[in-house]
Amino acid sequence: MSSPVLNQAARILKLVQTGTPADQALRESLTQDRHFTDPAGRRAVSRAVFVYFRWWRWLDPKDSLQKQTEAALTLQERFDKNPASFKAEALAARAVPDWLKTEMDLPADLLRQFQRDPALWIRTMSGKGESVASRLGNCTPAVLPAFRFQLSAFRYSGLKDLYRTPEFQGGEFEIQDLASQLVGHACAPQPGEIWWDACAGEGGKTMHLSDLLQGKGMVWASDRSARRLAKLKLRAARAKAFNYRIAEWDGSANLPTKTKFDGILVDAPCSGVGTWQRNPHARWTTQPQDVQELAVVQANLLNHVAGALKPGGHLIYSVCTLTRAETTAIADAFTAAHPEFEPVSPDPKSQTPSPVTLWPHDLNANGMFIAAWRRR
Ligand SMILES: C[S@@+](CC[C@H](N)C(=O)[O-])C[C@H]1O[C@@H](n2cnc3c(N)ncnc32)[C@H](O)[C@@H]1O
Repeated sequence: MSSPVLNQAARILKLVQTGTPADQALRESLTQDRHFTDPAGRRAVSRAVFVYFRWWRWLDPKDSLQKQTEAALTLQERFDKNPASFKAEALAARAVPDWLKTEMDLPADLLRQFQRDPALWIRTMSGKGESVASRLGNCTPAVLPAFRFQLSAFRYSGLKDLYRTPEFQGGEFEIQDLASQLVGHACAPQPGEIWWDACAGEGGKTMHLSDLLQGKGMVWASDRSARRLAKLKLRAARAKAFNYRIAEWDGSANLPTKTKFDGILVDAPCSGVGTWQRNPHARWTTQPQDVQELAVVQANLLNHVAGALKPGGHLIYSVCTLTRAETTAIADAFTAAHPEFEPVSPDPKSQTPSPVTLWPHDLNANGMFIAAWRRR
């Protein structure tokens, strides 16, 4: 590895040590550094930083950050050549924090997946899949035999900076993880329906719902963060999506509207363990108490939105995490407390169980948990 890349990675790691999250430190440093204006250089630095956090517990903290990063890259190369040479016990002990094993199962395949470079997924707008894929090149359609969804997901393995392509700027595709796309499909909004994306954030799933509605119907997008909702508006403008409305909501019982919905999506804040392949720094900043605190928020969000659903309407709960407290425990408690809600499969046309856990090693994507109910 060239020393400019190692030096730049070390500068970013120093910033992270002062409390800046790795993805933010990368964004800030790489936009300011005139030595890394080309996409290949930026990619090499980002990868070096992520590889460092993936192999962090194998490294010697007495070494310089440059030397540690170089050692991490060597470990990554060894792993990529022969993943089985890393025993599951060693990965369980070092690739994830100790507290995780009390919160969830840790299959060897998951731990190995966490140590790989993540795949990049795009979601093309309805009817544009083939055309966008052939113009971008290096796109492989997702094939998921377990589901009956009409997917518009492609894995991109090329070297273009996708954000700068005319197809992205013209709103023909979004960069969206495959597991997140499956949440939109589990909602399966029908043209003409009114949906509520209750934790819309920057609108990744709002935009998918809007597309699936084919412009007929409406998505209410709420979040407690006005800053995130402002980004949603920019995204919607790029996607030329108009069938949405924004409403700030703090998650309390005081709902933003009296409207009754055909469907509600609660894509709740969570510990994000399912994203630890893509964002390995989060392995070392997430705390077990986050899991307990977020589980309370998740249960409250579901209880608060439940009354806003029409009879026959669908409620979808999703989290990009895999801990029991935030997944099955939340779904079981909601089902027990709400006999008026019947659990249904997130993909009724297939044999998909309800709820469903999407594992990173099965999808080559983020981990995700999806539960669905129909109001009787
Ligand atoms: C998983 S993110 C949503 C991601 C988004 N749905 C997407 O696909 O891009 C969870 C969101 O919940 C919001 N949130 C956190 N706590 C909340 C609360 N108590 N009430 C409402 N929203 C909350 C956060 O601001 C965050 O945007």
